Amino acid sequence: MLTVAVLISGTGSNLRALLDAADEPDYPARIVVVGADREADGLAHAEEYGIPSFMVPWERFESRSAWGAEVAAQLAVWQPDLVVLSGLMRLLPAELVDAWSPRIINTHPAYLPEFPGAHGVRDALTAGVTQTGASVIVVDNGVDTGPILAQERVFVLPDDDEHALHARIKPVERRLLIDVVRRVATGELDLAAS
Ligand code: GRF
Repeated sequence: MLTVAVLISGTGSNLRALLDAADEPDYPARIVVVGADREADGLAHAEEYGIPSFMVPWERFESRSAWGAEVAAQLAVWQPDLVVLSGLMRLLPAELVDAWSPRIINTHPAYLPEFPGAHGVRDALTAGVTQTGASVIVVDNGVDTGPILAQERVFVLPDDDEHALHARIKPVERRLLIDVVRRVATGELDLAAS
């Protein structure tokens, strides 16, 4: 059974989908802890599922490195096989990435390498493209530059605003994430070879 830690900042709808999947008896991964950098709404999903959680408030640390060291210490308590960034709106310090990569993955609401960064949905709309997408990648020390594990196109509709487009991308992200975690757990996907 693959053990997974999930780090979030927001509503955690993708986290919830992974919790739902992991609740199925034949799913080969279990979420052992959920962490956040703030009082994220998504922490409520962990509580509902009886999964432990931790919070490392960004603003209480004097540097990215100090914050990351505390996140690393929390992860060390749970020793997950895999860390999933699911809407964590912080760049991790290099020490943390180097310690975990390639066993740390991220979901992104665009078809990387198109539209990396914190505003992937907005940037696709601003660019006026007709298709964007969703990606799951290995986290490296760049901004959304790691090896791509799965991705799928999503059409942009003429009336889309950021909210509407993001709402259509998220279900695709969830499906890709659940499938990537499953394939890592079964050994079908070897992150070390990515
Ligand atoms: C997802 O689109 C994720 O890729 C992005 O933030 C969103 C998180 O949504 N970085 P939620 O918190 O899972 O609802």
